[in-house]
Amino acid sequence: MSKQKDIDTAFFGQPRGLSTLFFTEMWERFSYYGMRAILLFYMYYAVTKGGLGMSETTAASIMSIYGSLVYLSGVVGGWLSDRVWGPRRTVFIGGVLIMFGHIALSLPFGVSALYVSIALIVAGTGLLKPNVSEMVGGLYSENDRRRDSGFSMFVFGINLGAAVAPWAVPWAANGFGLNLFHGEMNFHAGFSLAAIGMFFGLVQYVIGGRKYLSKDSLYPDDPIDKESLRPVMIWTLVGVVVLAVVLGLLAAMGQLNITNIITIITIIAIALPIYYFIMMLNSKKVTKEEHSRVLAYIPLFIAAVIFWAIEESGSVVLALFAEQRTILHIGSWHFAAANFQTLNPLFIMILTPVFVTLWDHWKNQPSAPGKFAAGLVFAGLSYAFMALPALIHGTTAGRVSPFWLVGSWFIVEIGEMLISPIGLAVTTRLAPKAFKSQMMSMWFLADAAAQAVNAQIVKFYSSSTEVPYFLTIGLVSIVFGIILMFFVKRIHGLMGGVD
Ligand code: GLN
Ligand code: ALA
Repeated sequence: MSKQKDIDTAFFGQPRGLSTLFFTEMWERFSYYGMRAILLFYMYYAVTKGGLGMSETTAASIMSIYGSLVYLSGVVGGWLSDRVWGPRRTVFIGGVLIMFGHIALSLPFGVSALYVSIALIVAGTGLLKPNVSEMVGGLYSENDRRRDSGFSMFVFGINLGAAVAPWAVPWAANGFGLNLFHGEMNFHAGFSLAAIGMFFGLVQYVIGGRKYLSKDSLYPDDPIDKESLRPVMIWTLVGVVVLAVVLGLLAAMGQLNITNIITIITIIAIALPIYYFIMMLNSKKVTKEEHSRVLAYIPLFIAAVIFWAIEESGSVVLALFAEQRTILHIGSWHFAAANFQTLNPLFIMILTPVFVTLWDHWKNQPSAPGKFAAGLVFAGLSYAFMALPALIHGTTAGRVSPFWLVGSWFIVEIGEMLISPIGLAVTTRLAPKAFKSQMMSMWFLADAAAQAVNAQIVKFYSSSTEVPYFLTIGLVSIVFGIILMFFVKRIHGLMGGVD
């Protein structure tokens, strides 16, 4: 069987199954990032302009907490795949939920459709995203050298979908260039295109999956037995009851509102990784060497949280800047604020080959903590850079050149190259044997915690506060990066041979 795996080179030298997973994830990310490119504006645009008429701060908080939940739910999705459904089915169910999530927004049902959509897409992405990546790993036998390049191609698929969507979805929302909606936005048309994208992804997943994905992926890795199911059921029940009580109490006090719900989710998203760390550090299944690796992972995790807080604010804070403070044309070429979301994935696609070459040729390259430290400095600089237009022109001067945003995204994406792929690799290698899959979820929990923090701090952003906002957060990141630099050797020592 492994022999057959080795000779399958049908997809650019990679197994055919990679093509199926590549396009599944490409379409899923197309739908996700396309939806996010217009969702912020949909929430706070006035009802007369096709929006929901929310306040800008609520809309910004919802964007962030939504992003947080999408990565939090991966914990459950990973568990269901490992223990109950197996990755193949879990991904399919996830994709279907996501598609219905986008369909909900394509219908004219206002705020209730928004919440239904968020619930479906949070659940669906939690089921799909971690497991589709896990299946990529499963395509290769233990010592297949193509694994790393396979993952690079997969990440390219993510970014291809993410780069095209911020053009395609706003284009649909603007009437496909046909002036169908008389100069107004029709957000529902945009969300429909996201749903169609996920539909394409599902169709090719089902057809390709039957032919090219292994039968193993139909079964859970570690199927749950009745005995271990009991405590899980009990704890789930306890969780649901506690949540219901908290929500009930808030309702009784007349405090059950979106702000408080967001605060509760923020607390959960920050508490969960802390709980995981404590559990791993105290577990008897973790050897001494593994214990020290988990310790080394803590500063890296914190660095990742700060990094993702800045990176993920691109679809919130920088999106607001694009809409309110940026000149939306270069010469006669006009574009929409939502189109700026293409810059992040575009720069990743451009920079990836540069960094792959760099790591291949740089003999005395820094270790992972060193790269993380540099990544934080770049992220911080990308924010400090955004304080410049207001410092130079003042905030009352109106709109500034789109190149400020282009520059900022370019700088933060250098940081992403130093943190995202490195973090993914180092996470798998620092994972204690007994906690392999949980540790993978930890990596996404860094992003979840980051966006949970964002949900609280984006409220302080507005055109009049942009200078202190960008400078403070930028400075936090730069300072933490510099402190991390001083500890690189010590952290590297704790990593016990992992570099
Ligand atoms: N932006 C990437 C994606 O959408 C990775 C996000 C992450 O690693 N937290 O897949
Ligand atoms: N930066 C987002 C993710 O990689 C699009 O890749």
